[in-house]
Order: sequence, then structure tokens, then C-alpha cells
Amino acid sequence: MQRTIITTGDGSKTIHLPDWNENYHSSHGAVQEAKHVFLKHGLDVFLGNSDIHILEVGFGTGLNTILTLEAALNSDSNITYDGLEAFPISNDEMVALEYENLLTSDFLKNKYKEIHASPWDRSQKITPKFTLTKIHQELQKQNFTPNTYDLIYFDAFGPRVQEGMWTKEIFQKLYTSLKPGGYLVTYCAKGQVKRDLKSVGFFVEALPGPPGKREMTRGRK
Ligand SMILES: C[S@@+](CC[C@H](N)C(=O)[O-])C[C@H]1O[C@@H](n2cnc3c(N)ncnc32)[C@H](O)[C@@H]1O
Repeated sequence: MQRTIITTGDGSKTIHLPDWNENYHSSHGAVQEAKHVFLKHGLDVFLGNSDIHILEVGFGTGLNTILTLEAALNSDSNITYDGLEAFPISNDEMVALEYENLLTSDFLKNKYKEIHASPWDRSQKITPKFTLTKIHQELQKQNFTPNTYDLIYFDAFGPRVQEGMWTKEIFQKLYTSLKPGGYLVTYCAKGQVKRDLKSVGFFVEALPGPPGKREMTRGRK
């Protein structure tokens, strides 16, 4: 499928899929959305805990990953981060996104490169307190160990274009993979998604969305 690079409302870039008219991030602002949905309403709940195990569904550009590493730098938390991705982006796309320019230090710029260079399906220490495993697999085929994750960043393409990522079967599998008290956060605020999350056992909250979007969703096990 064709992928092009576009600039979003906050000046940060993202990938656009012309065939589906779908973006990797909000057109209102890629960084803004990532920080609001996944950090403020996800990571911040756990930051400070000694160990935080995160699953990202749709590793994509690695933007959520590097922003998570940046946010956790001054905390005492050990982060284990599993980034699941079926269709990795190319090195040329990674360079064209210019996310390095958004990062405030040479240390983070180098870490972003390391994140992309790290091999698939092998865990890699990006810092002494941040261990990354990029998993090259389709969500539908991935088996998770029950009670593993504290936090799931559910960042799939929207249900309009990829309905198969938003089924009750998938939500059941993700629910099982969470520890009791764990959270799933997503930018999506569709009523059907909230009902389906509830039906597999999640306690569901509708939270204010990032700029340009009224709501987002968070589910707790
Ligand atoms: C909205 S984008 C994710 C953006 C990403 N979190 C980031 O920060 O760049 C959705 C991602 O899901 C991936 N994807 C699509 N189908 C998938 C599947 N069946 N299993 C796992 N990942 C999939 C896409 O390739 C894409 O990278």
C-alpha cells in the first residue's frame, strides 16, 4: 500500500495512506496526540512504579516509543516495552519523518535511531531502564501470556479502515494479557468500541480527547 509523508497541525509529520485516507497520527498534531492519549492518560498513571510493562499495538514510526522513553528518563521506573507491528516502515520513511528534529537532546536523537535499528523479535536494552522488543507479527496471530501488561497503547488504524483490529475477540485477548488494574488506552471514541470493550470486562472511561478530538477511551481491567 502506498505511504506518503504529511505535516500535521502541530508541525510534526506523520504517514498518510492515500488508499484508505488514513493517517498514522491525528492530522491535528501527531506529537500532541501521542502525548495526550498515551502519556498523559496512560503512562503517567504508572510512572514511578518500579516496573512497567507496556504493549504498543502498532509500533509504526516509533514515535510513541521514543516519547515514552523521554517521559520516563527522570523516573525510577524500569520499562519493558513490546512494540507489535505487522508492516514495519522503511529507513527512508523514518528519516523523512524528521522526528529526530523534535527531540531535545543528542542522547534522545541517538536513542530514536537505536530504537529503529534494533532487531525484530529480540529484546534490546535501549537504556539500562528501558528494554524494547519489537515484535514483527500481526495482532490477530500474536499469542500473549495472560496477566503480563500494565498498559496497552492501542494505536491501530481506525475501525473505519481496519475493522478486524477492533473485534471483541481482539479485545478479549488484550484484556487477558493485562494485569488486574492494567489499562488499555486508545484515541478512538466510537460508541461500538466502548461497548465491545465493556462486554469483555473492561471498566470503560470516556476522557477528553487531544486538541481537535472531543473524546478518547480508556479501559481498566
Ligand atoms: C495508527 S498506526 C500506529 C502509529 C504508531 N503507534 C506510531 O507512533 O507511529 C497503525 C499501525 O498498525 C500497524 N498494523 C496494521 N495492521 C496490523 C496488524 N494486523 N497487526 C499489527 N500491526 C498492524 C500499521 O502498520 C501501523 O504501523
